[in-house]
Amino acid sequence: MAETDVPVITVDGPGGTGKGTVCSYLAETLGWHLLDSGALYRAVALAALHARLDLDDASMVAELTNSLTIRFRVAGADMATLLDGEDVTGAIRSEDCGSAASRIAVHPPVRRALLARQRAFQRPPGLVADGRDMGTVVFPDAPLKVYLTATPEERARRRHKQLIEKGISDSLQRLSANIVERDARDRERSTSPMKPAPDAIVIDTTTLNVGEVRKRVSGLVRGRFPGRPDIGRL
Ligand code: DC
Repeated sequence: MAETDVPVITVDGPGGTGKGTVCSYLAETLGWHLLDSGALYRAVALAALHARLDLDDASMVAELTNSLTIRFRVAGADMATLLDGEDVTGAIRSEDCGSAASRIAVHPPVRRALLARQRAFQRPPGLVADGRDMGTVVFPDAPLKVYLTATPEERARRRHKQLIEKGISDSLQRLSANIVERDARDRERSTSPMKPAPDAIVIDTTTLNVGEVRKRVSGLVRGRFPGRPDIGRL
């Protein structure tokens, strides 16, 4: 099977919309590969912070990106991220690393350096790709593109709850401010801005719970890939 014949489901949108949860569910249930592209940007950001690079220096960050080995390893129901062999799964999830990821993600050479690595995830039997530009740039020919949205207030509330569950305390106010700042940067950058592809199906998850988002997206997948035996597992 040619790589381009391998089906891809892209799920884009800002953080806190339920993207990660629905992507893990789809990949696990279908037995398809999962690309968490945000984790790639976060791993580069972490390496740049460790190296004390100027995050606004596109060529230095791109050079660093090309030198890094970033791997994912299935760890139970979750995915571990390995940066040059070191497990950075927890470290890349901090708010600071997320903000740094959004900053280094504006640089075209950094995005170019990650493009082939992302496309390499398109392997049989299929791929679920989670990000900001999966449907617009990385997999423009994907047969199913979903774009999730939710109000910034609801996303901040979800993020706050998630952090409390992890035992991390952060003020709702700071989280809201971060979300607004990151959204603006991700949306307004000139290369691969966060936006729905023209053929994406947009779902507003503000008033939906996890089960409802899962149900809606599963319905779209079933409709798009009729007759595939793996789809019957949804
Ligand atoms: O989805 P996330 O919160 O892990 O992503 C962190 C940042 O990485 C996000 O604010 C912007 C950047 N990013 C990107 O520019 N393109 C992607 N496909 C994924 C993430």
